[in-house]
Amino acid sequence: MTDRSDIVEVVSSYVRLTKRSGANYFGLCPFHSEKTPSFSVSPDRQSYHCFGCGKGGDVIGFIMEIENLSFPEAVEFLAKRANMKLPEEVNDRESKKRTRMLALNRDAARWFYEQLHTPQAQIARAYMEKRRIGPATAKNFGLGYAPNNWRDLMDAMKAKGYTDQELFEAGLIRRRERSSYDTFRNRLMFPVIDVRGNVIGFSGRILDDGEPKYMNSPDTLVFDKGRNLFALNLAKKSKSGYIILSEGNIDVVSLHQAGFDSAVASLGTSLTGEQARLISRYTNEVIIAYDGDGAGIKASQRAIGILEKLDLKVRVLRMSGAKDPDELIRTKGPEAFRALLEASENQVDYRLRSIAAKYVLDSPEQKYEFLKEAYGVVARLPDQAQRDLYASRLAEQVGVKEDAVRGDIEKTRSQLIRRARTSETRASARAPDRPAAAQGRKLYFDDPRAAAAEQGLIRLLFLDAGCARGVTLPESVEFSSPELRHIYEALCERIERHAPVSLSLLRETLSSEEVDLLVRLDQEPVNLSNGGQAMADYISIIHDRYAERQAASAQKRASDDLMAMRDKYRATKAYK
Ligand code: GTP
Ligand code: MN
Repeated sequence: MTDRSDIVEVVSSYVRLTKRSGANYFGLCPFHSEKTPSFSVSPDRQSYHCFGCGKGGDVIGFIMEIENLSFPEAVEFLAKRANMKLPEEVNDRESKKRTRMLALNRDAARWFYEQLHTPQAQIARAYMEKRRIGPATAKNFGLGYAPNNWRDLMDAMKAKGYTDQELFEAGLIRRRERSSYDTFRNRLMFPVIDVRGNVIGFSGRILDDGEPKYMNSPDTLVFDKGRNLFALNLAKKSKSGYIILSEGNIDVVSLHQAGFDSAVASLGTSLTGEQARLISRYTNEVIIAYDGDGAGIKASQRAIGILEKLDLKVRVLRMSGAKDPDELIRTKGPEAFRALLEASENQVDYRLRSIAAKYVLDSPEQKYEFLKEAYGVVARLPDQAQRDLYASRLAEQVGVKEDAVRGDIEKTRSQLIRRARTSETRASARAPDRPAAAQGRKLYFDDPRAAAAEQGLIRLLFLDAGCARGVTLPESVEFSSPELRHIYEALCERIERHAPVSLSLLRETLSSEEVDLLVRLDQEPVNLSNGGQAMADYISIIHDRYAERQAASAQKRASDDLMAMRDKYRATKAYK
């Protein structure tokens, strides 16, 4: 649900946001009165933060705060908003229009499907036979035929009561001067069906080698190519546990026919972030099965980057023996595809192999260049054990000492983290009106030294849960601040079961003050270059302070007991 509620878009309906240099947007804070903007929204983190009043959180928190709603109410509010996004009246009109357009699309799809069985569709049936698309598959996908005439669909739909304007707005007809004609002619029709089962648009493939090979519906009120995937309506029901991402409609159809029922394709554009988010609602693993040519390899690299951002496990199928999945299945059978699927590499192997392919590893210079590039990939892995594994592989591959490679990787990692942090700190430093007012809302900690270490530990863990590996973390009772303890518990709980850690995931367990606090902590610069040492220091301070507080309270108890005894003694004496 929140995946459709982009925080910048949501906040924009309450606050005028402007983008300055850097990744964030700024505006006047809606939660306190101010004249210069200190309210910032980060599209990357999908979070907001006010440097003035200290409020911060994710999109749900923003709605809770501004609309004064409870968590479930805010979720519902956003869900509704995502579907309609428009003020009531306009919305009403729009929603009628949408419903009508969906009905038209459905009727058109049905009509195309019927045409497939008419005598004039012999050419389309022959084509399907040539491409080995069987009748069951055609039915499953609702494939159809757009006849080779100018206004067959138009006439059929007008007979059903749709107007010229409606057909035009749905992208089913085109206009030239005063006359209109069918958009899709003499094409094999693939209806595009969304996950709710609505026919939202069409893709039509030419039946020969002509151009353009595919024609897609234009973006309409109900169709947004960048937000939908072909066959996701079918793939979402798959039991396979992963989604296969391929390039072509025909590939998807062939894959499903061969039993790979989780195949989808983007609609003639390269994969978008929206599509990746859509995928992430149904699976946590994606196998990229793009064409084996240069364009396919390039597109794979891009897709990896997009999918990875969403914590999706990504594997890349190395297409060999055919140009694409369809050809492979047709010429070598489904087992051949199954074999490639099983051999598909994780994205790190895939990337390292692509990098290695660029170098001839026979000179020190080449080895050095290769390693330098490879470090960029390996150093980004959050998991220490994984980094070590690749360090030893790289060392062997190049013929250098493993320790040296491992050291270099860790050094690269610190540099990367430091650089990311610095640019972020600079971005927040650009926000005017900085800390002065924020101090006002700072929590007061009973034991500031302990709290500083507790915050440091939380910050490290939140930034990089991998830091916790092999470390004995303090017990949460050792924390001095109840707020920090609660955040720490929520973090540890997720880290222990290897669940992803993010603000939106944590917010269900945290109070809004705690979310604010975490956001603030996360925005403070952290130096991970010696994260291990910092972690050890924080932990030892937490232990020490805890022990000291324990001792102090034991002492206090003892002296309280003494006092009590004395009072009792006095009392008895007095009454004696
Ligand atoms: P075959 O060559 O029949 O195997 O086609 P395919 O379905 O495998 O498609 P291909 O790999 O050639 O292209 C991948 C995708 O890119 C298609 O599914 C379309 O969505 C899109 N595409 C290809 N050609 C065109 C075109 O000419 N115009 C547009 N708009 N999209 C295209
Ligand atoms: Mn193809």
